[in-house]
Amino acid sequence: MNSPFRTKTVEQSIRDTEEPEHALRRSLSAWDLTVFGVGVIIGTGIFVLTGIAARNNAGPATALAFVAAGIVCALAALCYAEFASTVPVAGSAYTFSFASLGEVPAWIIGWDLVLEFALGTAVVAVGWSGYVRNLMHTNLGWDMPVALTGREEGGTFDLLAFLLVLALTAILVLGTKLSARITAIVVAIKVTVVLLVIVAGLFFIKADNYSPFIPPATPQAEGGGGWNAPLIQELFGYAPTNFGVMGIFTAASLVFFAFIGFDVVATAAEETRNPQRDMPRGIIGSLFICTILYVAVTVVVTGMQHYTQMSASAPLAEAFKSVGQPFFAGAISLGASVGLITVCMILLLGQTRVFFAMSRDGLLPRFFSVTHPKYRTPYRATILLGVFIAVLAGFISLGELAELVNIGTLFAFVVVALGVIILRRARPELHRAFRTPWVPVIPILSIAASFWLMLNLPTETWVRFGIWMAIGFVVYSFYGVWHSRVGRESQVSPGVALSEPGTPPEPPAPGA
Ligand code: ALA
Repeated sequence: MNSPFRTKTVEQSIRDTEEPEHALRRSLSAWDLTVFGVGVIIGTGIFVLTGIAARNNAGPATALAFVAAGIVCALAALCYAEFASTVPVAGSAYTFSFASLGEVPAWIIGWDLVLEFALGTAVVAVGWSGYVRNLMHTNLGWDMPVALTGREEGGTFDLLAFLLVLALTAILVLGTKLSARITAIVVAIKVTVVLLVIVAGLFFIKADNYSPFIPPATPQAEGGGGWNAPLIQELFGYAPTNFGVMGIFTAASLVFFAFIGFDVVATAAEETRNPQRDMPRGIIGSLFICTILYVAVTVVVTGMQHYTQMSASAPLAEAFKSVGQPFFAGAISLGASVGLITVCMILLLGQTRVFFAMSRDGLLPRFFSVTHPKYRTPYRATILLGVFIAVLAGFISLGELAELVNIGTLFAFVVVALGVIILRRARPELHRAFRTPWVPVIPILSIAASFWLMLNLPTETWVRFGIWMAIGFVVYSFYGVWHSRVGRESQVSPGVALSEPGTPPEPPAPGA
């Protein structure tokens, strides 16, 4: 059965990793998951994109955009949790879809996840760089030459972002892991900074800054022929606008980035003591905490500084500077720069693991899944991607990059939700440590909500996404389809572990 929809069964996926050193210990509680979640989730989204969204798309109503994006993520989170607890193998949504939808969809999603994690790393690195420059400026009175700053500030090559990604790549090659203690400290610092913004900022709110709360829709400034307008406006023939009620959704599709990372929490299902109870608590708990914090921060900073004045690179710190509080600004920049490093590192790690899983399956050259003889890390994939991402982080504009990450992630949400429905039908008997409630209602709602946010992204982003996926198809047609291990195994022993989606699964061969 050499079909592009050949699937890699759940059992086969798990077998691939069944070595004693890979056995997972069930030690995580709902609290551990929540801390981990908050650690991954809070990053450039709230520290940087809030400023861009408020200034360009929604003004003070950016707070509502965070609520909308949080709801989309909560729906997707319920689907992720089921998949992650059924297919607990490195590779996240890639592995899930290989088990349910088949090789081509899995390739699509894997290629798409490369986009999410690789570009996500770049976005966070650029966000970090903005805060470090802000810190240097505030405390040392020292400025980087403009050419070496981010595009948001008129620079050409973001040197700091480039160097950060290279340094993290080296750390990952050496196999250094963030210890639970360091993660906990960093999470504490980040949450303290966020709370500091909320509590200290309250005293500097001016009611005038909230007016208008939802700025009236205005025609898009730069021509661009609607190129920068959300696809939905193009499709329905509206004149492209910023702000207004539609602007809230445009902002939601941008600040959605702030929630990315909970999908990483879902992958810890097998290490969770009581996944059925703790997984939803951990995921929904961290999403809920982050949504509350995000909304509160946005309400405060848009109240401190008029949205038209907000900074596009370090809005939280700049809001405090604008009210004559450089001390708070410095503390915020310091906390943000520490916090963003871990987010960047976790995304980069996620990226190398997806690439590794695809290469282990033969969809990408197996050269990349050879681990280092001494450090036992997938060093080839890590170095290749690290250098590529570092260069990218140097050159690309943060807002555009974040939108591209978002479209990729939302697309992954759609596929995962679809996968939950399909896998329930194809393999009802599988053990699911966590079951999404009300299937298929929740997955369908999740698909609709994710697609709605996708439609609110600029046409330009859709085109870039299309180009990226087209490149993926070329790579798959010329390489993956010929080298796939599942494809080869199926020619040796058809029927052992493969099934077409939609057809009843074959019973596992004895001893398989
Ligand atoms: N949610 C993470 C951030 O905002 C990726 O940086």
